[in-house]
Amino acid sequence: MTVHFIGAGPGAPDLLTLRGRDIIAACPVCLYAGSLVPEAMLGHCPEGARIVNTAPMDIEQIMDEIRTAHAAGHDIARLHSGDLSVWSAMGEQMRRLKAEGIPVSVTPGVPAFAAAAAALGTELTLPGVAQSVVLTRTPGRASSMPEGETLTNFAATGATLAIHLSVQNIARVVDDLTPAYGADCPVAVVYRASWPDQEIIRGTLSDIRSKLGENITRTALILVGPALSGEGIDESCLYSVDYDRRYRPQGAGSPWSGWTPESEAKS
Ligand SMILES: C[S@@+](CC[C@H](N)C(=O)[O-])C[C@H]1O[C@@H](n2cnc3c(N)ncnc32)[C@H](O)[C@@H]1O
Repeated sequence: MTVHFIGAGPGAPDLLTLRGRDIIAACPVCLYAGSLVPEAMLGHCPEGARIVNTAPMDIEQIMDEIRTAHAAGHDIARLHSGDLSVWSAMGEQMRRLKAEGIPVSVTPGVPAFAAAAAALGTELTLPGVAQSVVLTRTPGRASSMPEGETLTNFAATGATLAIHLSVQNIARVVDDLTPAYGADCPVAVVYRASWPDQEIIRGTLSDIRSKLGENITRTALILVGPALSGEGIDESCLYSVDYDRRYRPQGAGSPWSGWTPESEAKS
């Protein structure tokens, strides 16, 4: 019996990997974080599966569900929103499972920041403007931030910031970022990216607060940085006409001349 952690994606039921879908379909027990995982995802569960929404449960209640399934020899699909590598609470469950000798597997999912960028139809990195994306958050009621991981510090790099769990702190986000990025810096707030009621609010650090109003208080990503303007960019070398590269050697003098994927695999 194995606990299969599965990244269930940002919300749209078809933004689930094929591997995730197949594992869900093979597990007689499914535990899902109902606050963000859509119920439509549960349509992949086999008939008669035990399906439990863990949103109202504490960690010990969740562990009890797992122990019961384990004792019965049942595999478990454990669904969390987005990907499991960020803010999924997989780690604390994994520690307990390992301590009890219960096997686990991990299947990645589409993270919310990628779904938000897709909704905007934008790249978060642009040549010459931003080559890094910082996935971060502001402190919350239950989570402080490690010293040094401040918005001000991240802003000093000029990277694109994908700020999670923070739409209710928009005033602080604006205050912390304006000195480094400037009041004209583009900002986009994406509410429930990929859900049917998805909303996009675009603005700048100077007006995003008023544009946002009081309506959106959760499940939104704040994306900030000069790359969001899509302007003032250099082209990437990758597709430039005369860029000499392994997959597109520029003439007989190229070090890549005669290279094929097969020749590299053999070397
Ligand atoms: C607990 S974190 C989960 C992050 C998730 N593990 C991931 O990979 O994206 C929840 C936060 O992620 C963001 N989020 C999750 N789903 C979202 C969506 N569909 N649209 C916009 N933001 C989302 C919001 O900032 C929300 O407060």
